[in-house]
Amino acid sequence: MKILLLNGSPKRDKSDVMHLTRAFLEGMNEAAPLEVETVHVIDKHIEYCTGCFACMHNGGECVFDDDMRGILESILACDILLLSFPLYSYGMPAPLKALFDRVLPLSSMAMTKVGDRYAHVGQADYSHISYMMICGCGFPNSKHNFEPAVEQFKLMFPANRTYITVPESPMFSAPEAASVTAPRLGLVKEAGRQYALTGEIDEALLKEICSPMILEDVYANIVNGGV
Ligand SMILES: Cc1cc2nc3c(=O)[nH]c(=O)nc-3n(C[C@H](O)[C@H](O)[C@H](O)COP(=O)(O)O)c2cc1C
Repeated sequence: MKILLLNGSPKRDKSDVMHLTRAFLEGMNEAAPLEVETVHVIDKHIEYCTGCFACMHNGGECVFDDDMRGILESILACDILLLSFPLYSYGMPAPLKALFDRVLPLSSMAMTKVGDRYAHVGQADYSHISYMMICGCGFPNSKHNFEPAVEQFKLMFPANRTYITVPESPMFSAPEAASVTAPRLGLVKEAGRQYALTGEIDEALLKEICSPMILEDVYANIVNGGV
């Protein structure tokens, strides 16, 4: 199974969220051997889309010759596109958003009705790809926080997609929090194993993974300098 991991954290391997992603991949790898290509998006030269729409008329050729060419090839070659990113301003960090604006060459200008909305018709075949999002954040609350990122992910990838959102993510980089983060990473590993085997994650397990690890007010108190 080929996985393209797009790490949207500017902290690269030191990312809080990458602790979750590594656990998930470990679980997947236990179930089925994986080939993982990791892209630290911050290190890539990705021009901003200028909205010229040339790519949608000319068969998918972007006017820019930058790292997006290779990334588009990697996207089309993968079985699972795994997005790992911290919540920034209720959405994805800007470099990752810039990358997704540049996947426009995979679409044509033609529109088609999908359920109760319209989407562009592909000019490349990406029907084989499944999409996974792992997103963490700094606040303890998930409600009134993750919704925009989740909704965007669902609209961008209407089929074959699953997502994990975990609040209080800075705890994963704090060794002193290991007594609560280690069990959570164990659950995420199990989720990865399930996902590799079935393409799905058990609902109860997902709910547990996405819940705060410690009480919201206790977390806020620690962040604010209390004990
Ligand atoms: C610019 C910026 C914007 C952020 N916006 C949010 C936010 O909207 N909600 C939230 O809960 N945390 C927010 N955070 C906190 C990060 O999501 C959090 O620190 C996360 O654990 C960082 O993950 P990383 O180490 O993988 O990059 C923001 C952090 C930064 C730097």
